[in-house]
Amino acid sequence: MAGGSGTRLWPLSRAGYPKQFLVLSGNSSLFQQAATRLGRLGAEDLDVLGPMIVGNEEHRFLVLDQLRETGLEPSAVLLEPSGRNTAPALTLAALAALQNGQDPVLVVTPADQTVTQAQAFTGALQEAVRCAAEGAIVILGITPDRAETGYGYIRAARDEQGLAVAQFVEKPDAATATRYLAEGGYFWNSGMFVLRASVWLQALRRFRLDIAEATQAAWDVRQTDAKFVRPGKAEFAAVPSESVDYAVMERCPGSDIPLRMLALDAGWNDLGAWEAVWQVADKDADGNAWQGDAIISDSRNTLVHATSRLVSVVGLQDIVVVETPDAVLVSDRARSQEVKKIVARLDAEK
Ligand code: GDD
Ligand code: MG
Repeated sequence: MAGGSGTRLWPLSRAGYPKQFLVLSGNSSLFQQAATRLGRLGAEDLDVLGPMIVGNEEHRFLVLDQLRETGLEPSAVLLEPSGRNTAPALTLAALAALQNGQDPVLVVTPADQTVTQAQAFTGALQEAVRCAAEGAIVILGITPDRAETGYGYIRAARDEQGLAVAQFVEKPDAATATRYLAEGGYFWNSGMFVLRASVWLQALRRFRLDIAEATQAAWDVRQTDAKFVRPGKAEFAAVPSESVDYAVMERCPGSDIPLRMLALDAGWNDLGAWEAVWQVADKDADGNAWQGDAIISDSRNTLVHATSRLVSVVGLQDIVVVETPDAVLVSDRARSQEVKKIVARLDAEK
């Protein structure tokens, strides 16, 4: 799923070049890292098909160029004329996957995350695929270390087969997240879902028939041009915009759709905001990190990202500075989530 807009990493992340296509850690983009990770899931009992990318029409060349650099051959590139969030995106992928009479297990992943321990990741995902092959929806849980409000929270309950999901709460408010952390027994949702294509469609039809039917209508009038598949523009614009988490995951506990969780301990990080970019960056002894042409003097725990000029800072603490040719951001590091307010203001003024 590579069609998000990544507004909290403004001003580097822009509508035409959102964060998943940026090189923010290591030397490939987040999208390339995600594709490469999934390309390694093969095993004696597991065949891996080429990645299926669901993204925005506007980014089709970014997707193709960046994928070519990884050496992976896409099985399909599904192009949305407009973003309707992840539930319709996954529905397109499921419809495409079912086309040739097969019902493969889909390993659904966001394109905006980093993972440091490749082997642990591969092992956990292979186990998830084996479990999903039996008909369950499998989600990957991360042990939380702070009351982050940008994630889904999973309360897991142990049964004979492992961990069932007793409760799934998408993006709780700060007080609720703090309570979950204090209570214990909660995991963050990693945003990866492993399930058979048919299981997704069945769950969506159960909980959000409107999304299932509207997406099917857009799919039925699709146009195919080599690897590119385009759902109908007007039909897709009429699909209700909703995430996988709200549309289905929150509603599974207590229903007859089996939702299981596997714990993922593989150095997972979601690069949602500049705070997270600082967290995963290589830092000097004073906790400073930088990319590009930067001079940092007498500062601590500060992130400087320069793209077109020399940026120099003196005496800063816990600050983020991001420079681009036409916009500069200076923010309290702990409040970098609030950058989305600036983007909303810019959009309103357009
Ligand atoms: N194709 C497509 N179309 N992809 C999309 C769209 C869309 O309309 N909207 C978002 N995406 C992609 C994003 O590019 C990203 O890779 C992924 O789907 C997840 O979307 P986000 O918008 O980043 O979701 P989130 O971070 O707020 O929340 C999700 O991820 C968290 C972990 O990072 C949820 O699953 C949370 O429960 C989870 O904790
Ligand atoms: Mg995200």
